[in-house]
Amino acid sequence: MKEIKIESTLYLYENIEALPKNAFSLMQEAIKTREKAYAPYSNFNVGAAILLDNGEIVTGNNQENASYPSGLCAERTAIYYAGSQFPNAKILRMAISAGSKINQTIKPIPPCGACRQSIAEYEIKQDAPIEIYFMGEIGSVIKSNSLSDLLPLGFDKSVL
Ligand code: THU
Repeated sequence: MKEIKIESTLYLYENIEALPKNAFSLMQEAIKTREKAYAPYSNFNVGAAILLDNGEIVTGNNQENASYPSGLCAERTAIYYAGSQFPNAKILRMAISAGSKINQTIKPIPPCGACRQSIAEYEIKQDAPIEIYFMGEIGSVIKSNSLSDLLPLGFDKSVL
């Protein structure tokens, strides 16, 4: 038996002001779109903003449904829109901000497993890393240089 160790390096910024300029402005877009989320059931608003290599910024927020599983997370709303509107553009970076309407969210909120799987598909498709920055409403921000750092041992087309 051999032990397999999996390691990821993430980067912690104390607050949004500490981010590099380009990530700061993308995070501001994520915050703006978070406020437009449709989340009457969970009261948990999430916004995602994506920067493409053609300079376009695509945003999305969570869209809930009375039939709960029919709702969609912010990250997938945004990335599927980017994929559908700009199929040949590369995704450079995604910024995510999440906040509960009940308590202030001060911890960085990472994308859920289903969103990581969806983002991974585009990273593999474009053969270039997607930077991910995520935060709550206020407070620190975590950066991952690539989605693969958030989803080790991912399931992808190579096994099909
Ligand atoms: N949500 C997201 O938008 N992104 C995630 O990565 C995790 C969860 C949404 C789904 C649902 O509308 C609400 O947050 C509570 O789970």
